[in-house]
Amino acid sequence: MTASSSLAIHPSLSGRTVFVTGGGSGIGAAIVSAFAAQGARVAFVDIAEAASAELAQRTAQAGHVAPWWRACDVRDIGALQAAIADAAAELGDFAVLVNNVASDDRHTLESVTPDYYDNRMAINERPALFAIQSVVPGMKRLGAGSIVNLGSTGWQTKGSGYPCYAIAKSSVNGLTRGLAVELGRDRIRINTVSPGWVMTERQVALWLDAEGEQALKRNQCLPDRLMPEDIARMVLFLASDDARMCTAQEFTVDAGWT
Ligand SMILES: NC(=O)c1ccc[n+]([C@@H]2O[C@H](COP(=O)([O-])OP(=O)(O)OC[C@H]3O[C@@H](n4cnc5c(N)ncnc54)[C@H](O)[C@@H]3O)[C@@H](O)[C@H]2O)c1
Repeated sequence: MTASSSLAIHPSLSGRTVFVTGGGSGIGAAIVSAFAAQGARVAFVDIAEAASAELAQRTAQAGHVAPWWRACDVRDIGALQAAIADAAAELGDFAVLVNNVASDDRHTLESVTPDYYDNRMAINERPALFAIQSVVPGMKRLGAGSIVNLGSTGWQTKGSGYPCYAIAKSSVNGLTRGLAVELGRDRIRINTVSPGWVMTERQVALWLDAEGEQALKRNQCLPDRLMPEDIARMVLFLASDDARMCTAQEFTVDAGWT
């Protein structure tokens, strides 16, 4: 079995409306593709315009409905919320939200300024709550919803070189746990999916060196490389009615590293 072996089909995802932040490349793109393959109606935002356009084209070429997308910097909350509203006006209220956007740029403790700190939070932490704020009224109208927040095992395994990213990612469980009761009353589920080290093109190009290969071998229980599709499979499950009684939890996909 490989990461791209055929996906399970979740009948409840056919026609379902899904919004993904940072869906243009990496894990987000795998999530967009996986939902499109289920017959879902997908919208996403990203700053990477060329990659986003290419993903939309690839999806249509694969015979699926091309996703709605817009170039949007999620640091601009007004622009993010406008994109969600405009996409919902076209596709309908969103039943699923995937808070995926992030940037794990490296930095040292000494180099961090208040502006840099705020900037990291503006990408890695702040957009999720405001995206949730935007989709919840629609989910209430639909009578149910599923929110999936992408966390990380990086801070849990004491990953270094990105303290601001670690702070932001450690807050994802707080977001999930802190809203689960309130949202649950309206049958809106909220969960965290925490990936291990996933071999996106960016990770391989920027960070995977001989030392990294050794770390994978030493720490993962399973010998294969984690691929974006492996994360997308868990997100599909949590978005589907198959997970109808799962909320407030963290689901880790890390080949057994933690
Ligand atoms: N790749 C991994 O090994 C790994 C490990 C643990 C957790 N995660 C988490 O999984 C999620 C996806 O990770 P990834 O590796 O695909 O991330 P990535 O950095 O490759 O991509 C995220 C996407 O967000 C977009 N983006 C970045 N800044 C943006 C901004 N300001 N506005 C709009 N879009 C912006 C990028 O263009 C990209 O398409 C993230 O939440 C990340 O923290 C990834």
